[in-house]
Amino acid sequence: METELMLASHAPEQTRYWGRVIGAALGRGDVVALQGELGAGKTTLAQGIAEGLGVSDGCYVTSPTFTLINEYQGRIPLYHLDFYRITSLAESQDLGLEEYLCGEGVAVIEWPEKIAIWLSGDYLLIKLVLVGYTERMLNVSSRGHRSAELVRHVALHQAGREGAPPLPVTKNKGMD
Ligand SMILES: Nc1ncnc2c1ncn2[C@@H]1O[C@H](COP(=O)(O)OP(=O)(O)OP(=O)(O)O)[C@@H](O)[C@H]1O
Ligand SMILES: [Mg+2]
Repeated sequence: METELMLASHAPEQTRYWGRVIGAALGRGDVVALQGELGAGKTTLAQGIAEGLGVSDGCYVTSPTFTLINEYQGRIPLYHLDFYRITSLAESQDLGLEEYLCGEGVAVIEWPEKIAIWLSGDYLLIKLVLVGYTERMLNVSSRGHRSAELVRHVALHQAGREGAPPLPVTKNKGMD
């Protein structure tokens, strides 16, 4: 059974907020796939997930330029994988991905479509859609029982926010 929900974000800090909500619920072996075009907000969401996992502020999650995989230490390890630069399936075969996808920590993957063949198990899929300069839609869906639990966790959080004041938007800092 697939469960699905939509989250709206009107600013980077709102995307990070939803990342924190997700990160707080993640456990060992969880996999989160972040899909979306360039600049959709995948790394921004990964930063929030890192915060939710307790990665300290000093360890700033960035888009890796030369490395495909970065590891951060939170309450459990966070493996941030970015496959933008992968051009062939053969390349992904040398990365030892099992270690990250079935590892001791959480794997958060940008450009998961490039390694789709390795994503046979359960994972939480988040499709980020760029709808305006600072507007994004986050389509969160499950690919198994565990990820369905995670979707329900986010749904409860979203329902809890109904009627609450809107999430903050920093007005005077430009894009970030
Ligand atoms: N609501 C929003 N959510 C997320 N990012 C936003 C939002 N509004 C504006 N932005 C801006 O969009 C950019 C998103 O960049 P980010 O690196 O997170 O995207 P990405 O999907 O990881 O891109 P890439 O495919 O290049 O890795 C940032 O500059 C961020 O400040
Ligand atoms: Mg990125």
